[in-house]
Amino acid sequence: MHPRRLLIGGNWKMNGDLASSVELAEEVVEAFEPLRESVDCVVFPPFPYLQAVARTLGNSGVILGAQDCSTEANGALTGDISAEMLVDLGVGQVIIGHSERRQVHNESDSQTCDKVHMALESGLKVMLCVGETWDERSAGRADEIVRRQLKGGLAGLAKDRVGALTIAYEPVWAIGTGKSATPKDAAMAHDLIRSDLEDLYDRPSSAAVRILYGGSVNAANAPGLFAHLQIEGALVGGASLKSGDFASILGSAATSFQGRRG
Ligand code: PGA
Repeated sequence: MHPRRLLIGGNWKMNGDLASSVELAEEVVEAFEPLRESVDCVVFPPFPYLQAVARTLGNSGVILGAQDCSTEANGALTGDISAEMLVDLGVGQVIIGHSERRQVHNESDSQTCDKVHMALESGLKVMLCVGETWDERSAGRADEIVRRQLKGGLAGLAKDRVGALTIAYEPVWAIGTGKSATPKDAAMAHDLIRSDLEDLYDRPSSAAVRILYGGSVNAANAPGLFAHLQIEGALVGGASLKSGDFASILGSAATSFQGRRG
C-alpha cells in the first residue's frame, strides 16, 4: 500500500491577535513551500482571523481550518458559527470534538456526531478528536473511551463519507501539559482506532483516513512519533504558535514520509 502523506495541523486555539495571526500564517506558508510535495498542512486560527489568514494563505497549499462549528445550519443561536459560514470563508477542514469542547463546554458524543454530519454535508473535511483523561487511563478504560468517542462521533455516517475524515488521537492528559504519550503508546491507540474504523466501515473506504497524534507534540519529540507508521501526522497546539518549531515539525513529517516511500 502507498503510504499516506502525513498531515500536520496547527491548532492556534484562542491565542494571538490579527497582526500576529497574519504573521504566523506568512511564516507557515514560507516553511511549507519547499515541503509541499511531501507533507500536508492545515492551520486552525481563531474565527475572527479566518478571513485575514485565508488571504495570507492564498494558493500556498496550506489548508485553512476552523476550530469548531455548530450542530445547526442556521437560526437563533447567538455566538455559534455554522459550517456553511466556514465554507463561505474558504475553510476546508474543521476540528470537531476537541477535548476542550468536550470538557469545558460539556459537549456530548451525540452533539459531536451532529457536528460531524453537518460539517460533512456542508462540504468540509472533519478532524474528529478522541482521547481519554488521566483518570480514565489509570482506571484501564482508555481503549473503551476512545472507542466510545469514535463510534459515537461517527454514528449514522455513511461509508462514502468516511474518506473526508481525519481522526486525531489526543489523550487529554497530554494536551498542553508537556507530557506527550510515548510513541509506542500512541501507536497502539492508533492501531485500535484503525481496526475500529475498518470494523465500522471497511478497509477500502477507511483507507483515506489519516490518524494523527496530538498532545504536547514539539520539535524534539516529533521525529520519534513519526518513526511509527501508524502515526500519520500531528495536531499541534502550543508548538504551532512558534513558527520555527512548527516548521521543524513539518520538516520531520516530510522526512518521515520520504522514508516511508522508500
Ligand atoms: P498541545 O495541544 O500541543 O498544546 O498539547 C494539542 C491540541 O490540543 O490539539
